[in-house]
Amino acid sequence: MTTLDGETALVTGGARGIGRRYALRLAEEGASVAVADIDLRSYEAYETERSRATDDTVVEELKSEGHEVIGAELDVTDPDAVDGFVDEVVETFGSLDVVVANAGGGDGPMADTHASTLAPEYLRATVERNLYGTVYTCVASAPRMKAQESGRIITVASQAGRTVLDGGTYAHYGAAKAAVIMYTKYLAADLAPHGITVNAIAPGYIDTGKLRSNVDERSAVEAGIPMGRLGQPEDCADVVAFLAGPGAGYVTGAVVPVDGGSAEL
Ligand code: NAI
Repeated sequence: MTTLDGETALVTGGARGIGRRYALRLAEEGASVAVADIDLRSYEAYETERSRATDDTVVEELKSEGHEVIGAELDVTDPDAVDGFVDEVVETFGSLDVVVANAGGGDGPMADTHASTLAPEYLRATVERNLYGTVYTCVASAPRMKAQESGRIITVASQAGRTVLDGGTYAHYGAAKAAVIMYTKYLAADLAPHGITVNAIAPGYIDTGKLRSNVDERSAVEAGIPMGRLGQPEDCADVVAFLAGPGAGYVTGAVVPVDGGSAEL
């Protein structure tokens, strides 16, 4: 017996990186899994992600391990597409119990996205992907969970949404993730009477292909982390599994850092 037997979990941005690990972990916990990503083969862009993939897409990976899974290519900034997929998930599996609104990330170079020099196109794309994408995913999922009088929603913030990154760069991303945190708290207040918990995870520097492409000096980054190492996708998946599982039934409106102490110490 695993903790999520009989439940259904939706993960956005699940084709690579941390989201792929959420999908694999929630399936290991017993959930049927729905993966939405703008590109189910997005892992092909980075060597680190190619080396982690064991099949054509994460959907095939999960199928070959015997899990119940469906996948869709959609853009989380398109509310109709998100709503349509949530319908399909409920039709296929009969419920929607766990949502991880993970699709996100920043645009533009780490070195040149300071608050006073932000290009409008980086700002717009990053706010749309992280904030609007999260809101659309939650708004599509909430009515199904309200009807069930149960559910777990996990949004994905960042250390950058809680504290200013070294050098004060990636300002648009930090602002978007700070907005995700506040939205999460409003949603938690809204849905608490319906038996639905809403929490955010706030990762620090996690070892994904995307992160490696943005970081020139891994040792310099690690030197700034109290625990002295990058986080691994599994570190985030452990926290998501807890927030989705039976031990977190009375936890809502929280922002859980997974950052080796970076924003705390
Ligand atoms: P990633 O860039 O490797 O993966 C993101 C996935 O989301 C990709 O598969 C991509 O195709 C998909 N995606 C992007 N835009 C989309 C859209 N509009 N619609 C649907 N899918 C879309 O990112 P990573 O590193 O795995 O991060 C995952 C989440 O964790 C993001 O929200 C990111 O901001 C957050 N995060 C990551 C940290 C890190 O160090 N890697 C640190 C803090 C937060």
